[in-house]
Amino acid sequence: MDRKVTVIGAGNVGATAAQRLGEKELCDVVLIDVIEGVPQGKALDLSEAAPIEKHDAHLTGSNGYEDSAGSDIVIITAGVPRKPGMSRDDLISINAGIVKSVTENVVRYSPDCILIIVSNPLDAMCHVAFETSGFSKRRVMGMAGVLDSARFRTFIARELDVSVESTNAFVLGGHGDTMVPLPRYSTVGGIPITELLSRERIDAIVDRTRTGGAEIVSLLKTGSAYYAPASAAVEMAESILKDKKKILPCAAYLEGEYGINGLFVGVPVKLGRNGIEKVIQIALTDEEQAALNASADAVRGLVDLLKKLN
Ligand code: APR
Repeated sequence: MDRKVTVIGAGNVGATAAQRLGEKELCDVVLIDVIEGVPQGKALDLSEAAPIEKHDAHLTGSNGYEDSAGSDIVIITAGVPRKPGMSRDDLISINAGIVKSVTENVVRYSPDCILIIVSNPLDAMCHVAFETSGFSKRRVMGMAGVLDSARFRTFIARELDVSVESTNAFVLGGHGDTMVPLPRYSTVGGIPITELLSRERIDAIVDRTRTGGAEIVSLLKTGSAYYAPASAAVEMAESILKDKKKILPCAAYLEGEYGINGLFVGVPVKLGRNGIEKVIQIALTDEEQAALNASADAVRGLVDLLKKLN
C-alpha cells in the first residue's frame, strides 16, 4: 500500500487498531513494542487472517524504530493502562516518560508524520508529544472526543431504541470526568436530543458517558477499554489518510480558541491530509463555557504537575 501507519504499543489498543487499519485496507501497518516477540507475533497472526478477511495490507511487528521509517501517521498507545481504582491521572508520571522516549524515536525516523496520541492521561500526554516532537500543532492530536462521543451515541441510541447511525454527539473538553457533552448539539436524525428526552434522562446519559472509561475498567478488572478506543483512533487516521476532512472532536492545541491558550483540550476539528486543518468554534452558553473552563483547568493542573515532575 502507498500509506504507512505505525502503531506504538502492541497491547490491547495498539493491536486492535492495527487489526482495524488492516481490515479496512487503509495502509500498511508497523506494530512496535518493547516486549520481544509480541509485536512480531501479533502482526504475523493478523497477517494470517488477511486471506480470510480479504485485504492486502502488510502488517509487520518490530522492537526497533527503523521499521517505522517514513510513516504517514504514528499512533501512540504505549504505556500502562488503568487498573481498578486508579485514575487516569495516577498514570501520569509513568506514561509521560514512556511517551517522551517513544516520541523521540518516532520523530527520528518519521519527521513528517502526524501523531495521534492515545496513551493516558490523554491531554497531558499530548503536551509531552507536542513538546518533545517540536511538530506544528496541526500534526499532534489526541484521541478522546471521538471515543467519548461514540459512548454518548451508544447510550442515546439505546435510550431511544434507534440506530446508532442516526445519532450524532458533540463532546468538548478534556478526556475524563471533566468532559463536556453538549446535549443541544447532540442529535438523532438531525433532531436535538433535548427535544426527545427529558432533562433527567439526558443527565443520566451524560453521567454515564463521563464515567464510561471507568465503567469498562470496573468490569474488565485487569485493564481498560480497547475496542472502542481503537475504533476511534482509526477513524481519525482514516480521515487523515483519505483526506476526508471529517469534523471530529479531538484533543487539539488551542491558542485562544474558546478562550483557552496553550493547552490541549477536546474541540471539534477538521481532519485531513495536513492533520488538524481547522478548529471549529461555536458559541457556548455561559454554563457550557464554565464547564469547558473547568475541564481546561483540570488539564492545566496535569500539565503543571508534569512540569514539576521534570
Ligand atoms: N515503547 C513501546 N511500547 C511500550 C513501551 C515503550 N516504551 N512501554 C510500554 N509499552 C507497551 C507495553 O509493552 C504494552 O504492550 O505498551 C503496550 C500497552 O498495552 P496494554 O498494556 O494492553 O494497554 P492498552 O489497553 O493497550 O492501553 C494503552 O491507551 O487507552 C490508553 O489508558 C490506556 O495509556 C493506556 C494506553
